[in-house]
Amino acid sequence: MTKNQNPPIYTGDIVEEHLDPSREYTAENQEIIFSDEQHGIWADLFAGIHQPYLMEHLCQEYKNGLVLLQLDPRRIPTVTHLNERITPRTGWHIERTAVRYTLADDWYAKFAQRIFLITDYLRTRDQMEFTPEPDMFHDIFGHLPFLTQKFYARIEDKFAPAYLKATQEEREVIKRLAWYSTEFGLVIEDNRIKVFGAGIISGRSELSNTIMEFYRLGRDCVLDYTANVFEQLQENFLAHKEDINRITDGIQELHQQGQMSSQDQGWNVVRALYDKLGISRTGYFGGEVILAPFNVETIARIPKTVYAFNPMFFVCESLEQMDALLDSYLKPIALRN
Ligand SMILES: [Fe+2]
Repeated sequence: MTKNQNPPIYTGDIVEEHLDPSREYTAENQEIIFSDEQHGIWADLFAGIHQPYLMEHLCQEYKNGLVLLQLDPRRIPTVTHLNERITPRTGWHIERTAVRYTLADDWYAKFAQRIFLITDYLRTRDQMEFTPEPDMFHDIFGHLPFLTQKFYARIEDKFAPAYLKATQEEREVIKRLAWYSTEFGLVIEDNRIKVFGAGIISGRSELSNTIMEFYRLGRDCVLDYTANVFEQLQENFLAHKEDINRITDGIQELHQQGQMSSQDQGWNVVRALYDKLGISRTGYFGGEVILAPFNVETIARIPKTVYAFNPMFFVCESLEQMDALLDSYLKPIALRN
């Protein structure tokens, strides 16, 4: 490296890997023999989340799927078990991959064939609360119950056809749309905010922090849960849109400078940003995450690669609305010649 070259900036991106056919699993060797220690980690992760006071905040689509998937709370499931319960219902297939974080191009090429890759990596005991890399528990417990559900499968079906025809710039937006819906999305159900995203569901601290935010919004009188919650979220968003855009642009800038990647510094960085912008951390901005109505325009402005924490979550009025909003961006691209 010459003196003038700047060292690469660490932006918080997890290194994406190419599928390397020579080290990849084949149709014949999908199953892994796990150690008792690994089954024990699975059991503790499962028990940590499968608690009534947490599960009641998950959306119904997920809970329906979890029943159908019949996961054993004490043992990591086989790929055969998963496929037997998923494929007949929605046509999706599960395949094991040796890659820890698949390159988006490879991922969507598999998605186009309705293949959902699950990594062979399971977090270790010191990462029980948080793992930056999506592991097997995230893939299976967070995503796969949904893949037994026709409606969810239809949502997943939208991404690949658009991604494969999109420009590089559009691909970035598509990745963000997937991130803020299937990974970190929220949805209104029975006038309550429920968790939809697999990234929240599969992490106990992410899940409990998010639920605390629902309570905080009530406690701080931002939302009145006896009135229409989504309407109030929309009103709050519109009333504060200018500040939200300033925060989003500030986050984008911090992200590009590599200043939002650290797990423990993340929120301090955002708090410092609020201070710098002169935005008081009270009321709507008083929590650790801003809840905004799901909209393509804002999602397109905010980076997806901030994996240690998320400064903003997006709420859909219903799953049907999520479907329609995703279509509004993805369909015209998918229909291109
Ligand atoms: Fe995921």
